[in-house]
Amino acid sequence: MAVDDTKPEAEAAGSGRKLGRRDVLLGLSTVPALGLFGYAWQKQRSYEQRQRQAAEAVRPAAPADLEPIDVALVGAGAQGQVLLDAMLRIPGLRFRAVCDIWTDFNLRRAVNTLKKYKFEVTGYEDYRQLLDQEKELDAVVIATPDFWHAPHTVACLEAGKHVYCEKEMSNTLEGASRMVAAARATGKLLQIGHQRRSNPRYLHCHDKLLGEAKLLGRIVTVNGQWNRAVAPDLGAPDRYQIPEARLKQFGFRSMHEFRNWRWYKGKGGGPIVDLGSHQIDVYNWFLGAFPSHVMASGGLDYHDPKTHEWYDTAMVVYEYETAQGPARAYYQTQTTNGSQGYFENFMGDQGTLLISESEANYPGRLYRDPNAPAWDEWIQKGYVTAPKIVEKEAEEDPSVLDVRESVSPDEHRVPVVLRDPYHQPHLENFFDAIRGKARLNCPAEVGYESAVTVLKVNEAIEAKQRLSFRPEDFKA
Ligand SMILES: NC(=O)c1ccc[n+]([C@@H]2O[C@H](COP(=O)([O-])OP(=O)(O)OC[C@H]3O[C@@H](n4cnc5c(N)ncnc54)[C@H](O)[C@@H]3O)[C@@H](O)[C@H]2O)c1
Repeated sequence: MAVDDTKPEAEAAGSGRKLGRRDVLLGLSTVPALGLFGYAWQKQRSYEQRQRQAAEAVRPAAPADLEPIDVALVGAGAQGQVLLDAMLRIPGLRFRAVCDIWTDFNLRRAVNTLKKYKFEVTGYEDYRQLLDQEKELDAVVIATPDFWHAPHTVACLEAGKHVYCEKEMSNTLEGASRMVAAARATGKLLQIGHQRRSNPRYLHCHDKLLGEAKLLGRIVTVNGQWNRAVAPDLGAPDRYQIPEARLKQFGFRSMHEFRNWRWYKGKGGGPIVDLGSHQIDVYNWFLGAFPSHVMASGGLDYHDPKTHEWYDTAMVVYEYETAQGPARAYYQTQTTNGSQGYFENFMGDQGTLLISESEANYPGRLYRDPNAPAWDEWIQKGYVTAPKIVEKEAEEDPSVLDVRESVSPDEHRVPVVLRDPYHQPHLENFFDAIRGKARLNCPAEVGYESAVTVLKVNEAIEAKQRLSFRPEDFKA
């Protein structure tokens, strides 16, 4: 059944919807009241900002000779909306259909947004019906919960469509490997949504700073984190509840599980998979290697086990054998304190690179170790900025330095800034590849390697043991 989208637009949307009294009550068990109201206000504000920006965005005119690509979106929740906003800025896309099982809510919102931009889109509840009806589609963008990625991607590839599928590629390696096999068998493109792989700042660091200039020397240690403050569970207004029988049809046991699928075993992989997958993917990419071992400590230390199955805290150590020698990489994710947000920190014997997708918090900083050769050549070439010199007036700082203390290294900046939404370059790379103008930055095989690395953490936590990877584990 195609879905009626003529009713007024829903007032609430994904993570950025208006929070009602019921949501507030749902959240009270986990968040101190003041924090919750601050949270609700902040969410509402960011939702309104996003809406405004999307409405104000001028759609870039497509050059006359640009062949349009017919696109559908499957999964129009929080991330589906983010991808849609980014895609609306890319010329030459013709939106034809949206599919989402939350028909009165996310589906209607996405269809109405696209209609405002004058696209003739049809809404579907069931992806099989979409594939049946929309024969002209070239590409499908998938942003459903992780456990749906394999069935959705395989069906779309087999129907002859190119696919952009969000990370984590799948919640199981078996699912991820079926996706690789389907991409190979059909010859269609499959891009996995590790969007840092197309971010110009990350590409500059990988290709120029680490690859060509080798500014860090030999990388021996890495650390990174995604720390998140406590947040209330997601809810839904009473009138938008999905009947239980329909939820079951799509693999969800309750509305709570439907909204908070990340926390449930068999649906997502908890914070380490949800958040860590982005950054652990960068570890492999920047080190040019896969880990040989992993050990991890984690647990459900804080959240309510009745509504949270996965670990809310994970502390992980990977061991790598890189071309330059051994390296160890620490990663932590926790959901009880947002201190210092998220970043990756690569430390070599000649320098350090501190980077994050969040440019506002970590604008790409480099520190040259005092014993390393001068970086003048790279400053002149514009690869890094000149060092920031912090001169302190003696009287301002009464602290006494011990003569044995190391001199703090010079701070440089990565001079490449992404002005577009984070996901836009990765989507552009996908559409350029469809037009034969680019190679995918994160094809199925790379997504698989990343899934192998990340999914093993939950195994290691459960086993309470140091686990090993074989090189062939990374091949689908
Ligand atoms: N790349 C990134 O930065 C990033 C950020 C957030 C989320 N994600 C990924 O995006 C995906 C979606 O996450 P989200 O935060 O939007 O979740 P969400 O719960 O907000 O949205 C999921 C949407 O999928 C719909 N859905 C569920 N089952 C479906 C089915 N069988 N058919 C059609 N629609 C279905 C739901 O109704 C909902 O609208 C996840 O894989 C997540 O890991 C990626």
